[in-house]
Amino acid sequence: MRRVTVPLGERSYSILIGSALLPGLGSECAKLKLGRRCAVISDTRVAPKYGKAAVASLKNAGFDPVLIRIPAGETAKRLRVVERCYDQLAKHRLERSSFIVALGGGVVGDLAGFVAATYLRGIDFVQVPTTLLAQVDSSVGGKVGVNLAAGKNLVGSFYQPRLVLCDVDTLRTLPQREFRAGLAEVVKYGIIYDAPFFEKLEANLPRLLDLDKEVLIEVISRCCEIKAEVVSQDEREGGLRAILNFGHTIGHALEATSGYGKYLHGEAISIGQMAAAGLSNWYTGLSGSEVRRVWTIFKKAGLPVTSRVTRPKFRKLVEAMRLDKKVSDGEIKFVLAKRIGEVIPGQKVSELHIARVLNVPGYGSGK
Ligand SMILES: NC(=O)c1ccc[n+]([C@@H]2O[C@H](COP(=O)([O-])OP(=O)(O)OC[C@H]3O[C@@H](n4cnc5c(N)ncnc54)[C@H](O)[C@@H]3O)[C@@H](O)[C@H]2O)c1
Repeated sequence: MRRVTVPLGERSYSILIGSALLPGLGSECAKLKLGRRCAVISDTRVAPKYGKAAVASLKNAGFDPVLIRIPAGETAKRLRVVERCYDQLAKHRLERSSFIVALGGGVVGDLAGFVAATYLRGIDFVQVPTTLLAQVDSSVGGKVGVNLAAGKNLVGSFYQPRLVLCDVDTLRTLPQREFRAGLAEVVKYGIIYDAPFFEKLEANLPRLLDLDKEVLIEVISRCCEIKAEVVSQDEREGGLRAILNFGHTIGHALEATSGYGKYLHGEAISIGQMAAAGLSNWYTGLSGSEVRRVWTIFKKAGLPVTSRVTRPKFRKLVEAMRLDKKVSDGEIKFVLAKRIGEVIPGQKVSELHIARVLNVPGYGSGK
């Protein structure tokens, strides 16, 4: 088992990464001296697979857990579902000393974390992420929240968990498409922060796709270390944390304009990272051979690198980019790469160049 610490003063916490960790959930919670009553929030796909093991482990360690199921999928990440969770917490008499376990992917983690941040003005919570995306990204860093009809993640908070427990064995039941989507975030860490890690990924991709435990544990640990380093320097996204958005400007816009559901988040940001790599070639000196390496790794990971963007669709994309909550004063700014392993945020780019890297008809071709 590997342990990564997120150093945030008195809110510091550990991320445990390994195999067969779920049966030890209760004893890890006991070490944190959490109250006896707790709730495991999970979704209707994950609960039947891992709910029993989580609840049994908590009971064995002397806790009194209740299992709360929410619907699976992005549409569950909304206030109505949050309210239903509050009602069940009240029914089970959770108190200030009680805690919540988020057992599932990023949807469950974001929603259960928001419930924990707000119920009784905040109770403890533990993340047990069961998707690759949640293990390398959403469970670490303390962003919790839900969607509104007006857009994704518009209501939320920064609220750190007490512990993150990543059991790589849970990835065995994850649909392959979801696993590959998570790889897009894994590759991102190499591009934004760690060239040797990117090289290792290039070499180990087949073992990763085979769910080789040793490689999974090493890769997930490195991603968590990088996210922990970034978050501990900039917990509330005032500066450095922006680098985590590499590929997300176009990615989010694609998700919003294609109708949520066409692309998984990881697929949209794979296309977004490829476009950002193209822009980096123009603006910040990323070499042509490095752009090709980025293309090759996404292709080998089975991820999309292009999307068909017509002229009307491009207008919608630009509008969506302007509406993104990370935009300030209506100006679209990108995180671009100087080389693999080093990025710079806040780069202004022209619409023409965005159109060219997306191969929009009538704008000339990409470089
Ligand atoms: N808080 C953050 O910092 C942050 C960062 C990135 C993404 N997110 C959020 O994360 C969400 C996406 O997360 P996700 O990709 O994990 O999606 P998800 O939670 O919807 O999970 C994907 C699907 O896989 C199923 N599933 C989960 N674990 C499984 C397992 N082990 N076996 C079988 N099926 C399993 C789920 O039921 C779901 O149907 C989005 O809402 C996004 O906004 C948050």
